[in-house]
Amino acid sequence: MKTLLILLGVVASSNLFGENLESETKAIERAHETVSASRNNFKKALASGECKMSAPPLGAKNENIEVGRTSHKLRNQTNQPRDWVKPILEEYVRTPVAKQNKHKLVNLGPGHYGYVEPLYVEAVCLNCHGATLKPEVRKEITKLYPSDSATGFKLGEFRGLIWLESKGR
Ligand code: HEC
Repeated sequence: MKTLLILLGVVASSNLFGENLESETKAIERAHETVSASRNNFKKALASGECKMSAPPLGAKNENIEVGRTSHKLRNQTNQPRDWVKPILEEYVRTPVAKQNKHKLVNLGPGHYGYVEPLYVEAVCLNCHGATLKPEVRKEITKLYPSDSATGFKLGEFRGLIWLESKGR
């Protein structure tokens, strides 16, 4: 038992991310926690009529983490996918919703990783991303985002990704 505990300790503290299941699981857990908090502040913003999302405060963890949203059909051109996100986004677009991964983790170098979770179109999203928009909504969107391509979505469709990039502690 003692040997097993020591062994587990070694596995858990080893830093071979990508080759080490233990640290990969931990990275996924941490990333998921942060993304869930971001989803919550996204929901709150939506409830007050805004489609905004920001990274939650990270507290004592002091990790170098960035969080954002991207899509294959962008409204705001500043939400372009980062290079490491591009092939993942393309893969999601090619894959039917039912078969899409709930999340994906990629190793970007020592202590550096990327993580994504998909976003799907819910009923509330259709007001601003659906096929038929109220004229005043359409007008406002065209004014603010002249090159908008984020309309015409249907309920349940893949809308884009929440991404997280961590450069470690
Ligand atoms: C009140 C209108 C409104 C609603 C409702 C809304 N959005 Fe948006 N959405 C916008 C606007 C405006 C932007 C551009 C925001 C920005 O500048 O980043 C945007 C941007 C996004 C982006 C970032 C990528 C891009 O196209 O720029 C995603 C992803 C997104 N919305 C998904 C959703 C989802 C999923 C829902 C429903 C859960 C939703 N939106 C509901 C108006 C809306």
